[in-house]
Amino acid sequence: MLDVNPERFLADLHRLREFGAAGVGKGVVRPAFGAPDIAARDWLAAQMQAAGLVPRFDPVGNLFGLAAGPSLLIGSHSDSQPEGGWLDGALGVIAGLEIARAAQEAGGPAISVVSFQDEEGRFGVTTGSAIWGGNLALDVADQQTDAQGITFAEARAAMAHLAGDFVDPGQFTGFLEMHIEQGPWLFEAQEAVGVVSDIVGIRDMRVTFEGEQNHAGTTPMHRRRDAFQALARFNGLINDRFRNVVTPQTVWTIGHVRLHPDAHSIVPGRAVFSMQWRDGDSERLRRMEEIIQSTAAQVAQEMEMTVTFGPMLGLEPVAMDARLQAALRESAEAEVPGRWRAMPSGALHDATNLARLMPVAMLFVPSINGISHAFGEDTDEADLVAGLRVLAGAAARAA
Ligand code: GLV
Ligand code: MN
Ligand code: MN
Ligand code: MN
Repeated sequence: MLDVNPERFLADLHRLREFGAAGVGKGVVRPAFGAPDIAARDWLAAQMQAAGLVPRFDPVGNLFGLAAGPSLLIGSHSDSQPEGGWLDGALGVIAGLEIARAAQEAGGPAISVVSFQDEEGRFGVTTGSAIWGGNLALDVADQQTDAQGITFAEARAAMAHLAGDFVDPGQFTGFLEMHIEQGPWLFEAQEAVGVVSDIVGIRDMRVTFEGEQNHAGTTPMHRRRDAFQALARFNGLINDRFRNVVTPQTVWTIGHVRLHPDAHSIVPGRAVFSMQWRDGDSERLRRMEEIIQSTAAQVAQEMEMTVTFGPMLGLEPVAMDARLQAALRESAEAEVPGRWRAMPSGALHDATNLARLMPVAMLFVPSINGISHAFGEDTDEADLVAGLRVLAGAAARAA
């Protein structure tokens, strides 16, 4: 068994939160490639070095702490959403660091750590691990932009110490990722951990309605070609039409909207918005895409507008590796008997992209009130430590 140190683990987790600490409670603002993200990565690299690992940045900002020889990889991401919590991603990285450090102190097994870059999608969907895992070509990623129009290529060029090659995935025997659940199920059931069975697939694209910009005081209602009204009608229609297709697990979100020119007294001529949908079944994701395309085209035609679609980003649903899941289940039963469950993940994770390279599995700990992607995200310290112990037990069994 690996003798992890809970105090050291919690202290590191709190230290990482200081990079980009914001908002109320334990909020964090640490989007990929911003100054707090880069400072946090430099701090992490120093911790890896101190733990006896070799820190290595790859050309897109993924940070590895490498053990010698073939090793088990543990980690997640240390970037955050534009308004995020202190645990989303950070927990998995610091758990990996503590377990790798304990393994170094014990003289084995060989465990490496990783913090992937831009998991939270400033430039796309799990950008850093998608590139490393072969789900996204680097030249395509380089053209992707953030909400301000900055390209991924520009952002990574500004991170001075990115050099060298991608790390060879062949040296890793598998990948374990610990994460907060970001949903209500474990918390409500007062269970300690969840062993993830599979991760949903996702589609995400930008939609633009183009109507006619005009004066909000003088343009009669029947002559308007108001792009916001088109978006509102589109939203109502897809909510109705999805009802015949979806399951209780299916979700869809319009999370980003920009009206042009975004002023009180102007009928908006353009509405640009994000359309994202997720489900465990690729075929259902495809049918939802058809509904989105045909409904938007219908609204545009009825309201005398044009509609255009940006490139669609997507990741397929993936199942977790049976042997690594068994290691997590055995460890859970040993550490927190009867207080764990198997469950799917509705959030996306770096593990999705690594499933093409090596066996992967994931462990969840409860999120208080199911809150995440918000400053209020938190988990009881007892649950953080229980999760660390379960993960360490699984790593010892799997390595
Ligand atoms: C995670 O950040 C997700 O968006 O699923
Ligand atoms: Mn995350
Ligand atoms: Mn997240
Ligand atoms: Mn994420």
